[in-house]
Amino acid sequence: MRDLFTAGSKRFDQYFKKGPHLAIDFSKNHLTSDTITLLTALAEESQLADKIHALTHGKKLNITENRAAFHTALRIPAQKRDQLPKEIADEISAVHAQMQSLCDKIHRQTPLYPQGQAITDIVNLGIGGSDLGPAMVAEALTPYHKKQVRCHFVSNVDGNQLHNTLKNLKPETTLFIIASKSFTTQETFANAKSARSWLEASLSTEQTNHHFMCCTSKPEKAAEFGILPDHILPMWDWVGGRYSLWSSIGLPIAFAIGFDNFEKLLAGAHDMDEHFQSAPLSENLPVMMGLVGLWYINFWNTRSHALLPYEQMLALFPNHFQQVDMESNGKHVQVTGEKVNWQTAPVIWGQPGTNGQHAYHQMLFQGTELIPMDFIVGLRTHSPYQQQHQMLVANCFAQTRGLMWGRNEDEVYQEMIGQGINKDEARRLAPHKAISGNQPSTTIMYDKLTPESLGALIALYEHKVFVQGIIWNINSFDQYGVELGKVIGQEVLSQLQGESSSEGYDASTQGLVNYFRNHQ
Ligand code: F6P
Repeated sequence: MRDLFTAGSKRFDQYFKKGPHLAIDFSKNHLTSDTITLLTALAEESQLADKIHALTHGKKLNITENRAAFHTALRIPAQKRDQLPKEIADEISAVHAQMQSLCDKIHRQTPLYPQGQAITDIVNLGIGGSDLGPAMVAEALTPYHKKQVRCHFVSNVDGNQLHNTLKNLKPETTLFIIASKSFTTQETFANAKSARSWLEASLSTEQTNHHFMCCTSKPEKAAEFGILPDHILPMWDWVGGRYSLWSSIGLPIAFAIGFDNFEKLLAGAHDMDEHFQSAPLSENLPVMMGLVGLWYINFWNTRSHALLPYEQMLALFPNHFQQVDMESNGKHVQVTGEKVNWQTAPVIWGQPGTNGQHAYHQMLFQGTELIPMDFIVGLRTHSPYQQQHQMLVANCFAQTRGLMWGRNEDEVYQEMIGQGINKDEARRLAPHKAISGNQPSTTIMYDKLTPESLGALIALYEHKVFVQGIIWNINSFDQYGVELGKVIGQEVLSQLQGESSSEGYDASTQGLVNYFRNHQ
């Protein structure tokens, strides 16, 4: 990459692209104009433009479950919603009205029933897409939080998470949201049942019912569970779980930041959707992100991709996109059912900078793997400590520079000689201190982390995943692998409870079950 930069002084201008709410520097990647031509040709050969049209027009791209993945519909602003099929437009408008009215009630501190008290704490019970996206957004938009309520997220079936959350809360002022598209998820319902017992220890059953809301595509099941009719918020089959923060599953976000800010989040994502549909491939931010990622995975054989937000409030961003990317594109067959002969989803990992610099960046600098990275950073901060923001940004840019440019043995050697170190010692140390460079990175910048810019950032990554799925010719919208885990989990549970035998299972799993049972 040193050669590429030395050869072209306009490299930054050539690879710096702007889109709604975001600007992206692709120049520190192993790219030439030929690479871009070839990658966009690959996208054209995959009929990407037609597929983007199909996605954003609600076509049934999820061919195994025979449904659309129409999350972009949820982001179309009210005044433009007439471009949607009427039934869908009406459903979205109705759920928005319901979310808004519930937000008004909670934020005005109106008790939910005559003898009730104002709600001060909201606990979202959900997992996967019914947790990660809302939890990430709620934390990212901390500066917008309403003072009246605190939002908590409990996902794990490990009861310690629920217990540690509830130990500082009061039943009278706590509202639970059961967030489950399928209304069947073991973890969520274990937590919901424990939450009900916790409430019922202080409140009557009738009062307890007022302390639950539910976001689900199975409203009839929610009613059977005792959720009051106006506390059931529908969502639909055509919204995938990992793309559901834009639907009623976003209710905790709206409680945390207010419904007006939730709408701004949707609007920012919609701006990116419009760009995705209209910008030429080589200027299209999600398309370029997808192609550059794919370039490394399939042509440089990389297996992982680091997401490094230089914004502490985006701490959960890599977690959310672990699910979006790896659950969507962790697939081994094409839409035709034939095996893929190429790598699909990379391992997504990362945590906020600068923390990661003191953890795994050593491996990025001097390890043996090529690891593409995304550095994500705001030009401005919400924090009053402005100088610290300059340090943060300086660290971000410095890492991209050091990882790309490196420092060869001769440079290191000369530096040590300049410091007065003797030649033998300098020669001995030089290989240890040299950094090969050439680690590629993309830098994604927004002005300030607002609902709009966050909406655009999330949509950027969702569409990146879509682009890669299209080129790999896989269905990005099912998750049969996870389903198998759920089935076996139920079987093993009944074995642990002594209700069924583990006979017929492999010796390892039988041994583990027996070991557990002998220690109860
Ligand atoms: O992890 C598998 C999964 O099906 C995800 O796709 C989904 O987000 C999560 O479980 C939770 O599902 P539900 O919202 O139906 O409880």
